[in-house]
Amino acid sequence: MNEKVYLEKASAPAAPPAKTAKPLPDDALILIPMRNTVLFPGVISPITVGRVASVAAAQEAVRSEKRVGFLLQRDPQTNDVKPEHLHWVGTAGQVVRYITGAEGTHHLVVQGQSRFRVLEFLSGYPYLAARVQFIEQKEELTPEVEARFLQLKAQAVEAIQLLPNAPEELTVVVQGMTSPALLADMVANLLDIKNEDKQDLLETFDLKRRLDKVLEHLSERVGVLRISKEIGDKTKKEFDERQREHVLREQMRQIQKELGEGDDTAAELEELKKAIDEAGMPEDVLKHAVKELKRLQRMGEGSAEGSMLRTYLEWLAELPWRDSAPGEIDIARARKILDEDHFGLDKIKRRILEHLAVRKLNPEGKSPILCFVGPPGVGKTSLGQSIARATGRKFQRIALGGVHDEAEIRGHRRTYIGALPGNVIQAIRRAESRTCVLMFDEVDKLGQGGFHGDPSSALLEVLDPEQNSHFRDNYLAIDFDLSKVMFITTANMLDTIPGPLRDRMEIIQLPGYTEEEKLEIAQRYLVKRQLEANGLKAEQVAISPETIRAIIAEYTREAGVRNLEREIGAVLRNVAMRIAEGVSKKIEIKPGDLHAILGARRFENELAQRTSVPGVATGLAWTSVGGDILFIEASRTPGTGKLILTGQLGEVMKESAQAALTLAKSYVRESLEKTDIHIHVPAGATPKDGPSAGVAMFLALVSLLAGKPVRSDVAMTGEISLRGLVLPIGGVKEKTLAALRAGIKTVMLPKRNEKDLEDVPPEARQKLEFVFLEKVDDAIRTAIGELPSPGERKAA
Ligand SMILES: Nc1ncnc2c1ncn2[C@@H]1O[C@H](COP(=O)(O)OP(=O)(O)OP(=O)(O)O)[C@@H](O)[C@H]1O
Ligand SMILES: [Mg+2]
Repeated sequence: MNEKVYLEKASAPAAPPAKTAKPLPDDALILIPMRNTVLFPGVISPITVGRVASVAAAQEAVRSEKRVGFLLQRDPQTNDVKPEHLHWVGTAGQVVRYITGAEGTHHLVVQGQSRFRVLEFLSGYPYLAARVQFIEQKEELTPEVEARFLQLKAQAVEAIQLLPNAPEELTVVVQGMTSPALLADMVANLLDIKNEDKQDLLETFDLKRRLDKVLEHLSERVGVLRISKEIGDKTKKEFDERQREHVLREQMRQIQKELGEGDDTAAELEELKKAIDEAGMPEDVLKHAVKELKRLQRMGEGSAEGSMLRTYLEWLAELPWRDSAPGEIDIARARKILDEDHFGLDKIKRRILEHLAVRKLNPEGKSPILCFVGPPGVGKTSLGQSIARATGRKFQRIALGGVHDEAEIRGHRRTYIGALPGNVIQAIRRAESRTCVLMFDEVDKLGQGGFHGDPSSALLEVLDPEQNSHFRDNYLAIDFDLSKVMFITTANMLDTIPGPLRDRMEIIQLPGYTEEEKLEIAQRYLVKRQLEANGLKAEQVAISPETIRAIIAEYTREAGVRNLEREIGAVLRNVAMRIAEGVSKKIEIKPGDLHAILGARRFENELAQRTSVPGVATGLAWTSVGGDILFIEASRTPGTGKLILTGQLGEVMKESAQAALTLAKSYVRESLEKTDIHIHVPAGATPKDGPSAGVAMFLALVSLLAGKPVRSDVAMTGEISLRGLVLPIGGVKEKTLAALRAGIKTVMLPKRNEKDLEDVPPEARQKLEFVFLEKVDDAIRTAIGELPSPGERKAA
């Protein structure tokens, strides 16, 4: 169970492991000292390692696919562990999982395999290592051993039932065990005893003696729990073997009866058989399922393998094998529904309808997969839901953000403990239909492949019409036809979508909304939805367009409408509270009321305040969340002519900063031998279009050196050459919308980007003044004005 938590929190596997100088001898083991855990053979356990040597050991083990020996420390407090600090008997195991946690911790999931004894520690490795001798386990089922084994089983089951927190499956697992050694070790692992005692159990190689010891501990435990003192007492007495066995068998039958095992199993299997028969599986799958069912029946009740097999068959039976083909796509109806659910987005809706039309005309055809790309809250997910509604299909989402392991998509093999199908098959089962709409969110944040196979190639297989008619999930291990699923993907930005995936997709960009569009969306959808969410009726609240406009301008700064909806929700919650208190029957919200409800305006004066001093220019950036403004700040200190850069600057931006400085010096005709110049680009917005802040950096520097502020209502984007030419950039539409949102009046763009203006919404074109720059001189003229001469500057 712990293991699951680790897996979900896991981030990328660790960096390449340290190289070791010399190879380990064949009979040697890499060792990890343990402060508090005794690992037993056959036990799977999560382990956290922190010490440098232990991390190195784990990484080397993973890299070389070697086993690791785990040894208990004599004193858990010891940090720098030497051979004399360790018990010399331990368990060798396989690292089955290696996960680097969010806070740089390293988690292993290890499976204990066999006992070993250290013969000789080896030096010269960046971790502990030793030559060892493995302890062979003879598994002879003598009557003596068997009697103890049965007794241990019975007692373990009883103890499990008496423990308040023990998982019930454990009973099933215990009863299904066939190896006395394994059971002894498993119980030893679970026993709530001192580590020294556990170590003693580990070091007791003789199976009969070990069983006795484990039994003793267990019966003590059971005694503490004040139950069935009887059995515990009996272990201490010498019993005639036959009599003892008889008693134990009787007890086991009793326990089974109490567990209610026996009769209902047959009924359950009957039910399962019915479900399989009725699931509508294709012939070969049905044959396979029936065969597995027979195997399950033979296996008898309660074995661990039996319960896994049953889960597997339940999965098979519950998958939607039948094609509940939705009716033909009705384009007119689809158009109506898309219009009902979303305001505006005309071009996008048209492309969706075209896509649907192609599907309708050529259902077997290999249409590309729709991919909505845009900042958060612009309606990507909700368009997907709308498409599902419009085509009469079920909708399911799969989040791909941070998926690193292809098994998350394709499932784990059934031999893996706790295995399940991957999230594609899980979503299909939730949808209860193979003809559903399946949305993969955040394809751009899909983890890079590596340690556990490449998730993007698994995803490719899912999406590829050539392959997905016989998609094979590792867990199901039979083909499942995904070719009738309508896949849609979403992403915040294009460039991090793996290339082969991008090639399969029809990209539809949603750049974000203008203020007018947001107002419409709020009035038609958001307010209504939030009224409902807060149990209000339309006639109880009046919220004017001016109020919504004020929320948009002063409390949100985003390309989408998610925060807008949240703020409207906050306002209406406040209204709901006042109405519930009986203050009034109808409440009107005016712009002036917002301060009391939502607090101080968030985005009002930033522009004017920030740019009131020389040395600050407002740049425009194109980021993963749409466009944004960013303030470029320059300052000077006495020094030796250095250029210092801080904040979010990529390598490319550093070069343009240097170019901007060289150019700025020539414009203000000042040598800066005794001055250090510092340029700061605040964090938060990592531009995705590389160098595009050249003009802004240049103006910030000129403004600083000339001692004259840049106009606060001008924002700019553009790269510069050393000769002062302004070069074109990307993301004009997003940047323009960001400028409009931020209350900018004039936007300066490179002359060669003039053609991109046609993509900019008309509203933005009307409200903003555009100045097209050929040379940096044009920028100075618009945003700073006449530069004072050096003489005037001295005087000032
Ligand atoms: N044009 C629109 N008309 C009506 N409602 C809209 C429109 N655009 C967005 N919305 C609403 O805005 C909210 C946020 O949209 P959605 O959840 O689809 O965003 P998203 O693009 O999927 O964002 P993310 O990238 O964060 O997942 C939804 O409630 C959606 O209905
Ligand atoms: Mg979404």
